[in-house]
Amino acid sequence: MSLLDEIEPLKQAALADLSAAADVPALEQAKGKWIGPHGQFTGLMKQLGNLSKEERPAAGKAINAAKVELEAVLTRAREELELKASIPKHPTDFTLPGRRRSVGRLHPLTQTTEDIVRSFRKIGFAVADGPEIEDDYHCFDALNTPADHPARDMQDTFHLATEEKLILRTHTSSVQIRVMKQQPPPVRIIVPGRVYRRDTADATHNPTFQQVEGLYVDKNVTVADLKGTVEFVFRELMGKDTKIRFRPHYFSYTEPSFEIDFSSPLVKKMGKEWLEIAGCGMVHPQVFENVGYDPEEWTGWAFGFGIERIAMIRYGITDIRLFYENDVRFLQQF
Ligand code: DAH
Repeated sequence: MSLLDEIEPLKQAALADLSAAADVPALEQAKGKWIGPHGQFTGLMKQLGNLSKEERPAAGKAINAAKVELEAVLTRAREELELKASIPKHPTDFTLPGRRRSVGRLHPLTQTTEDIVRSFRKIGFAVADGPEIEDDYHCFDALNTPADHPARDMQDTFHLATEEKLILRTHTSSVQIRVMKQQPPPVRIIVPGRVYRRDTADATHNPTFQQVEGLYVDKNVTVADLKGTVEFVFRELMGKDTKIRFRPHYFSYTEPSFEIDFSSPLVKKMGKEWLEIAGCGMVHPQVFENVGYDPEEWTGWAFGFGIERIAMIRYGITDIRLFYENDVRFLQQF
């Protein structure tokens, strides 16, 4: 048999061998046998020297063509076997439990906010939102806070260096105005959100902190509704033994206005009988006028309190700055 006639049967045998390989090592072995340095096709090449000058080019070309074809088959077979090897041997069981839940958790302030929101939702309050970058109108004017009010002092408010005289909101009360301007009464909303004040940070102050604002507008709303609502929510948050009391106070956007104190075993633990926790009152008729509600027809109450304060009492934290330091030793405890 001439050399040229040997090529095709050898190629067929090599192809069968390569496609029979069950994994990558078997494939590499087959490769060695056929097209490696000591393989059969290399052997054929070596025999070219025995051929006549006339026969040699055609035989050399045919051997090379066969090798190229085998290389291509080899590459494809290797890719397929590697892919097969990367697929898990056993099917995934999606009913198995997940990894341990130590990958992360919610920040204590987020947990507290969610609890507050959950309590208010139970009694029909919706969550509203507003911008942290505000203007004087929504933060002060519309809330009946005159231009010479101490709350507007440069000491307290961050002013942005913009033409429009924008500020960072000092309280979430600004959202009362935005919501009432946007919808007709009745209104029943809470507004959790970040506020900013020009304070230096110490154990109980931080230039940015979070508040929850509440607003309820309907017909014949009374201070009793306000007190009942606040009592319900604080008992949910701080335990059944929680008591609250109202003290007269002044806010420009409510009349009458009160400060809310509360007492609970948690407060006693801090060595106190009562702790001041929130401001509130009946919505001032002027505020209703400012948003286009008829004060003869509608009545309402509003309140605002700090979320950090609540979280500190709940968890017995004595330094507000711990909330913002992101120290995992602190955060892991919640
Ligand atoms: N905005 C007040 C503050 O930041 C809290 C407050 C007091 C909100 C009385 C109210 C309210 O809605 O009626 O201290």
